[in-house]
Amino acid sequence: MPVLETSMLGIAQREGILEVYTHDLRDWTDDFHRTVDDEPYGGGPGMVMKCEPIFRAVEAIGAMDSLRPTIVFLAPVGEPFKQAIAQEFSKEARLLLVCGRYEGFDERTFTLADRIISIGDYVLTGGEIAALAVIDATVRLIPGVLGHAQSCEDESFSDGLLEYPHYTRPSIFNGVDVPAILLSGNHKEIERWRRMQSLERTQRLRPDLLKGEN
Ligand code: ADE
Repeated sequence: MPVLETSMLGIAQREGILEVYTHDLRDWTDDFHRTVDDEPYGGGPGMVMKCEPIFRAVEAIGAMDSLRPTIVFLAPVGEPFKQAIAQEFSKEARLLLVCGRYEGFDERTFTLADRIISIGDYVLTGGEIAALAVIDATVRLIPGVLGHAQSCEDESFSDGLLEYPHYTRPSIFNGVDVPAILLSGNHKEIERWRRMQSLERTQRLRPDLLKGEN
């Protein structure tokens, strides 16, 4: 998948920090049409991911390495994906991400899952884009992948707040100045200003984060 070869994910793979394999669930079907979905019991729209290919695939892929993988299903019914979960995943030696399409998974497939993860309150056509988001957020936290360890610590969500505003040259653009404090060289004051900006921005845009709701 080209996205996996680009940027940080590409570098991490070329440097041997990361290995990513994609598998086609249809390889674990045994009918002529390689069927992975079927109609829902009880009726209703859409199709449901069948149990057998998922059980076979998870078992077979799990056994491809002696390390037992942490099995993560991507589904809108999962727990919301957070920076803290990315931190946890970045410490795992092996993750097996299971992506569904159609209306969803047969509920019984979830017995395989260590975690069920949703990347947000919206429905994608499949779990693949969700899996890429999880991979991207996770891999950049693996030591050695991101240039500056500090940027992981400062960034949004790592302390439960949105990050402070950033500026780079030029100091005046379209008549708008960079805040003078950032040019002052007073690191203590800059740190204080950034903290205030973080709090103000979080209060304005994501008050739920301050209430500890997330
Ligand atoms: N599959 C479809 N929608 C999804 C979502 N929001 N998160 C994770 N997997 C999904």
